[in-house]
Amino acid sequence: MAPSNIVPRKPMTTMTEIDALLTENRKFPPPDEFRRNAHVKDTSLYKAAEENSEAFWESQANELEWFEKWKTVCEWNPPHVKWFTGGKINVSVNCVDRHVKTARRNKAALIWEGEPGDRRTLTYWDLYVEVQKCANMLKKLGVKRGDRVAIYMPLIPEVAIAMLACTRIGAAHSVVFGGFSPESLRDRINDAECRVLITADGGYRRGGVIPLKRNADRAIESCPTIEHVVVVQRRPGAFGDEAFASMTEGRDHWWHRLMQDASPVCQPEQMDAEDVLYILYTSGTTGKPKGIVHTTGGYLVGVTTTTKFVFDLKDDDVFWCTADVGWVTGHSYLVYGPLANGATCVMYEGAPDWPEKDRFWQICERHGVTILYTAPTAIRAFMKWGDQWPAKHDLSRLRLLGSVGEPINPEAWMWYQEKIGGNRCPIVDTWWQTETGAIVISPLPGVTETKPGSATTPLPGFSAALIDASGKEIKVGGGLLALTKPWPSMLRTIWGDDQRYVDTYFTKWEGRPDLYFPGDGAKRDDDGYYWILGRVDDVLNVAGHRIGTMEVESALVEHPAVAEAAVVGRTHELKGQALAAFVTVREGFEPSDDLGQELREFVAEKIGAIAKPDDVMFAADLPKTRSGKIMRRLLRDIAEGRALGDTTTLADPNVVAALKDQLVHKVFTFTSMFEAREE
Ligand code: WTA
Repeated sequence: MAPSNIVPRKPMTTMTEIDALLTENRKFPPPDEFRRNAHVKDTSLYKAAEENSEAFWESQANELEWFEKWKTVCEWNPPHVKWFTGGKINVSVNCVDRHVKTARRNKAALIWEGEPGDRRTLTYWDLYVEVQKCANMLKKLGVKRGDRVAIYMPLIPEVAIAMLACTRIGAAHSVVFGGFSPESLRDRINDAECRVLITADGGYRRGGVIPLKRNADRAIESCPTIEHVVVVQRRPGAFGDEAFASMTEGRDHWWHRLMQDASPVCQPEQMDAEDVLYILYTSGTTGKPKGIVHTTGGYLVGVTTTTKFVFDLKDDDVFWCTADVGWVTGHSYLVYGPLANGATCVMYEGAPDWPEKDRFWQICERHGVTILYTAPTAIRAFMKWGDQWPAKHDLSRLRLLGSVGEPINPEAWMWYQEKIGGNRCPIVDTWWQTETGAIVISPLPGVTETKPGSATTPLPGFSAALIDASGKEIKVGGGLLALTKPWPSMLRTIWGDDQRYVDTYFTKWEGRPDLYFPGDGAKRDDDGYYWILGRVDDVLNVAGHRIGTMEVESALVEHPAVAEAAVVGRTHELKGQALAAFVTVREGFEPSDDLGQELREFVAEKIGAIAKPDDVMFAADLPKTRSGKIMRRLLRDIAEGRALGDTTTLADPNVVAALKDQLVHKVFTFTSMFEAREE
């Protein structure tokens, strides 16, 4: 058993869940037929990669098209790394041009469905033309190699075109999730000093329209670096120009007008392998979101390889990754990984329960989806909605299922396997992060015997270990997850703050700057399988999305009524974790349901609806240690309704008792992750 002092302060996983995981002993070997036809059929790839991981990655890099070969495979000066230095490459060439030279020329690259039911299919040739036109459009607006372009869009084909166009001319993109607030957008644009913003007049979500351009206008009121805004008309004629997009002369341009005049030929920039490909912001424990920096060559090698092996991708597959492009999953497995492999990808704009709760299954049936990659939070919602929804549709084309974003509970895993996979499809539970760029721990579907709830073992080319707080490796039991060797798609730094990069990821174990600390706790069983338990820091995982408690607290205390705020996670049936906010009010303000509601809206406005606390609890005081630190552990216990833990370090033990009595208002209204976007 794991020594309790290193079982992380894990808000989500209760002891009973850990116990349940330990007794989970069902095993599912790959179906024979799957194994026979798989890209990887046996463990030789693991062995080869273990003997020489650089040679493994080099052989994978050789599968891509380079203008110039690299001189060195990997330069590791812990904690900084470079891959394929000297190599010159362009991502759009590998994702698009490469395929139009082959029989894939007229193959569907993107099969898109809008929420209202509109549909478009783009072939690789279409992408080839559109990406170059968009690249020329950006050039005309003054975007140069090395510049940053912000993208704030609904999930429509133009978002992939815009990303690929950036890569064509060597500009880094910073995609900001369309559900984020104007303030969040503003902070991200300013941090990266973006010159151009690409957005849309609106996007559909559950029948409503998210007014993206209006949000963008509010954001860029204080974004001095933005010179131009390009606006995609989401559905010509549907919204009326006035309501959703008032265009500022000289600064704002309609996408379709500029694209009309743009030339369809744009020479690709020859990028250095280590040039920045994109920045993607993610929550950290303290302060503002971190701009995770990914570079060109290594990232592409990482996502191309893992897409091919983990999803066993073949030319006739129809691959659907349901993530929004605002998250890393959308970057790596909706756009870059599948397109680099020449796959047919499904892209869907809207909510899974619009207009009915079978929308996903309708899409799978209609397009003959063969590989589905989604999140446990969605799977739990589907379970709750009932088996009748998937049962209405022919899902027999599916041959592989994937899961990502948070631990999947064995019950949801079994349901997914049975009701969606018809007990026929292997499940790949993929552990990774924004920072890792690509999947790190996952089964290979033709090789690995899976266990419900376990992400199994590191993929070929990746190395992990469990390490305790003192730096000792734990072979069997619980500990902190560490990645022990560099990998090509790892983050290179945090934009504008390399010290934060060093401090956040490489200082967990003293004197070991070669050990990457992802911030997760895990268990390892006798077979060497990893069971990820979740975050050990103050980052929460709400519906598969990372939210820093600090960010939410800072937003709350900006409200005039709030004196002090502490935000913790509690278990949530669907979302995995939910946010519980403890708030003390300033003199002159009275706690009330209305104020609770107001505070929730206030956070939604400051950060975005995904960060809206589920519960707002008012208290006269917050429990603190003698040194003044808020004791979150106790607040978690209260939020979960558990017996209180150790209170001996508390400055004033009476506070907790009083706190429990004084929780005057509890606001419970937020029930589904799917509400999160449109508000
Ligand atoms: C969690 C999403 C358990 C984990 C790709 C990680 C998981 C964080 C899994 C990264 C999984 C992701 N099992 N936990 N299969 N996948 N996580 O950056 O805590 O949005 O550190 O990347 O999600 O979230 P991020």
